[in-house]
Amino acid sequence: MQKLKIRGGNPLRGDARISGAKNAALPILCAALLTPETLTLHNVPRLNDIGTMLKLLAQMGVVTSRNEETVTLTASSLGNLVAPYDLVKTMRASILALGPLVARFGEAKVSLPGGCAIGARPVDLHIKGLEAMGAIITIDAGYINAKAARLKGARIFMDTVTVTGTENLMMAAALAEGTTVLENSAREPEVVDLAECLIKMGAKISGHGSDTITIEGVKSLHGAEHAVMPDRIETGTFLAAVTAAGGKVRLTNAQPNTLDAVIEKLRDAGATIDSTANEITIAMSGRPLSINVRTAPYTAFPTDMQAQFIALNTIANGTAVVTETIFENRFMHVQELVRLGAKIDIDGKSAVVHGMEKLTGATVMATDLRASACLVIAGLVAQGETIVDRIYHLDRGYDHIEKKLVALGADIERID
Ligand code: EPZ
Repeated sequence: MQKLKIRGGNPLRGDARISGAKNAALPILCAALLTPETLTLHNVPRLNDIGTMLKLLAQMGVVTSRNEETVTLTASSLGNLVAPYDLVKTMRASILALGPLVARFGEAKVSLPGGCAIGARPVDLHIKGLEAMGAIITIDAGYINAKAARLKGARIFMDTVTVTGTENLMMAAALAEGTTVLENSAREPEVVDLAECLIKMGAKISGHGSDTITIEGVKSLHGAEHAVMPDRIETGTFLAAVTAAGGKVRLTNAQPNTLDAVIEKLRDAGATIDSTANEITIAMSGRPLSINVRTAPYTAFPTDMQAQFIALNTIANGTAVVTETIFENRFMHVQELVRLGAKIDIDGKSAVVHGMEKLTGATVMATDLRASACLVIAGLVAQGETIVDRIYHLDRGYDHIEKKLVALGADIERID
């Protein structure tokens, strides 16, 4: 089991290049299932989750190739239409194969994702939407079995904003007969990036980025070339790290206009942030001010930045209230931060963080992807040595984050 050993106290200085967005790349990889022609993708991050998705698609018969950050996929003829449990259990985003498989091949057998550390995370809205388009769906022995002669366009209201639900149904609707309207759809930039890629493949989509997306089904889609958007959560993670540790960092290959809520909060904490179309420069000295946060669907503050902001608040000046409205169990990092000396009380959906002068290094355990990023930030500011265990969680969503942080002056090493 690999770990990170961090010695805190160093400010961060220099440049870091942001990788492509995991949560845009994952649905876009599945979009390759919608056409027999080749989809060429650039700026695909080198992450374990991407590797898992490529494995899932390849075992179906998709011909995939990868060279650095460029990936090509050709789903000309598939051997099977199954997303097996042993792969789905390691990555819930596998559910994104369901919509495209039913839309193009008229059937799919996808394992139910099962539970997750941060919450129940049901997929009922994915299923309900496909049924509204005419799919016959049964759940049997932990698998979703879907069949449809040809999906038909429908007006679908999603009573909870769901990112992958919106993405699954948008992909399914692209090849359905007639027009589909997705109401109360997710507005996340990753949904927009998927829509832009589908449009390059010949899909007829409008309203993406708003809460109502209209998709006019077409008979077939063709190959295309697309560059995945920069990862706004990796960007936010680095910005939070500099605000906590101090220093001056320039982030390149970024997309600042997808981070307004996060940048606003970091300015409130005392950071100086300037940006161009694809770069962000942040400077911070002294102790940050405590900042209240309430997560909600985009354009509000992202739940995937909640843990990182709790870490920042543990050493801030004041008391902060951090409220998590999306997932029901996304505070597992709190107990690990308490091991570093943080003072945090959980009160239902809120964590009350009493800022301390310092944290003291200790051994802590990562429990999920963003919790592990939060513990790295805490380790950067804690006095002494922090060991972050189970960093396979971290590698799912960050492309060797310690290499980028070491290049900025952090004292971190990966140990077995
Ligand atoms: C996506 O997950 C992201 N993953 C998550 O990022 C992110 O935290 C989440 O959106 C919220 O922004 C990917 O894009 C691969 P949801 P997703 O469906 O789509 C409920 C990370 O760290 N819900 O938007 O699974 C659900 O329980 C990961 O990169 C239903 O009730 O999240 C949750 O409370 C973690 N029924 C809420 O909606 C459904 O059918 C939002 O979930 C679907 C969702």
